Amino acid sequence: MLTELDMSSWAKGEVEPVDIGKEYEPVAKPLSVLASKKPKDIIYPLDNQLYLGDSIPVLQTWPDNFFDACVTDPPYNIARNRKGLSWAFSSHVTIEDDWDRFTSSQYEKFTETWLEEICRVTRENGNIFVFGSYHNIYTIGSIAARMDLRVVNSIIWAKPNAQPNITCRMFTESTEQILWLCNNTSKKAKKWTYNYQHMKELNGGKQMRNYWEIPLTPQREKTHGKHPSQKPLRLMERLVLAGTNPGNRVLDCFAGSGSTLLACDRLERNWVGIEKDPVYCDIAHKRLEEERRQRRLFPVSP
Ligand SMILES: C[S@@+](CC[C@H](N)C(=O)[O-])C[C@H]1O[C@@H](n2cnc3c(N)ncnc32)[C@H](O)[C@@H]1O
Repeated sequence: MLTELDMSSWAKGEVEPVDIGKEYEPVAKPLSVLASKKPKDIIYPLDNQLYLGDSIPVLQTWPDNFFDACVTDPPYNIARNRKGLSWAFSSHVTIEDDWDRFTSSQYEKFTETWLEEICRVTRENGNIFVFGSYHNIYTIGSIAARMDLRVVNSIIWAKPNAQPNITCRMFTESTEQILWLCNNTSKKAKKWTYNYQHMKELNGGKQMRNYWEIPLTPQREKTHGKHPSQKPLRLMERLVLAGTNPGNRVLDCFAGSGSTLLACDRLERNWVGIEKDPVYCDIAHKRLEEERRQRRLFPVSP
């Protein structure tokens, strides 16, 4: 439990790491995985390992009930083949990458497949946090409803420094949503992890609300390379703190630049990531390495 928050000494995120004095251990390099030739082979993923590969076939080889929780930020399907102005979303960059381009029916099928796989590999009543925006969160929500998953909350991430709307034809988009699911049916869901007291302390002694004002990812978190939808560490830390416990095993199957993994590493949760782009895997690996090296530079005073 947190006693006193001193953010000045650890300006990167919201909280201090649980054990800043932990011995330095290098982060394993991303491991490339190919789909198994025998689909029935079960492979046990390693803790604190990022896998380079396509989430769905990779998840399909992993065992049931293996993770305590999943925190993930899937493609939003907002990339378009546009001429002229590109769609700019969560920061001053555009998402025009192929990983984010689907037809509606492809996107539904893709979402249903990964959500089913996440539910299978996460333990019963484990937390599942899924990021989205108004473009895709209703699709994800309707698939979750069809699967009869319990929705615990949806969290609004409000960006006080969101970029202006260049078309001037609508309100400036300045929020994203995080759907919080419990891995069970709406009737049977119980005892999901919620670190109520911890959240209350972080919120100055008042109950934490589901509206979180957190600025866009600061430049200092992008020193190892840019990802078009990199989430701020402060946001990821709050989710990890709220919905998991130290020692838990947490999955992010759309790891990007590794923000979920970094928050887990800092807060003593075991993490496993999957990311299909080697450039993003490399950024994630460098960020994790730097995090662990910094711990060595700032040991806890005896
Ligand atoms: C919205 S971004 C995640 C960003 C991440 N939260 C961060 O802070 O950097 C989604 C990521 O999923 C990856 N991706 C898309 N489809 C994938 C798939 N089928 N398997 C694995 N990764 C995938 C993309 O390359 C992209 O990096």
